[in-house]
Amino acid sequence: MFASTPAQLAARDLFKLARIVPVVSVDDPADGVALARALVAGGLPIVEMTLRSPNALAVIRAIAKAVPDAVLGVGTVLDKEQAAAALEAGARFLVSPGVTPALAEVAANCPVPFLPGIATVSEAMRLREMGFTTLKFFPAESSGGIAALKGFHPVLPDIAFCPTGGIDAGKAPAYLALPNVVGLGGSWIAPAGLVKSRDFAAITALARTASAILPA
Ligand code: 3PG
Repeated sequence: MFASTPAQLAARDLFKLARIVPVVSVDDPADGVALARALVAGGLPIVEMTLRSPNALAVIRAIAKAVPDAVLGVGTVLDKEQAAAALEAGARFLVSPGVTPALAEVAANCPVPFLPGIATVSEAMRLREMGFTTLKFFPAESSGGIAALKGFHPVLPDIAFCPTGGIDAGKAPAYLALPNVVGLGGSWIAPAGLVKSRDFAAITALARTASAILPA
């Protein structure tokens, strides 16, 4: 049994605040602030903002400043430079879809929780050797979904997963019922169409429904 890094212990603690993490992409800082407020109002304070829009860092800066009640993390972190930029913008946790040796080093030395992504047992084992015990499982549905997580548990009983990718409100309860699922992520709570039409009340309603989801 390897010791968890301090950052990893905190990663698991994030999910004590909420087990469902909206994964969002926004390009306008004002929309980002309104979106973060809408999600917090709906009971989902843990938010992953991806680096997949050109203006993502400005959006992250704006939310970090204006919505302190949101625990804003940054996702789609692929390298050291992006990790540094996300931290500088105010990210309170980092998420990556997968891991390279260089990114694993960054994750191990990260001053905030880092949730590295894996899709296979071998990838999870490599991170476990470095002390990581809370991992993103991505892309969850196309990498085996619930059946894969059920297969991971007996051989990696000390690893907790946050599955993300292809999950929606209908699928969430079965994931949350698994003993090795600490929480899950999904973009269904903040659909691009609702952000575009600035229907933040509808997003609060989706968040409220998601925050009330119980394990099956
Ligand atoms: C992610 O970045 O984690 C995924 O794009 C979220 O997956 P989803 O859009 O299928 O929920």
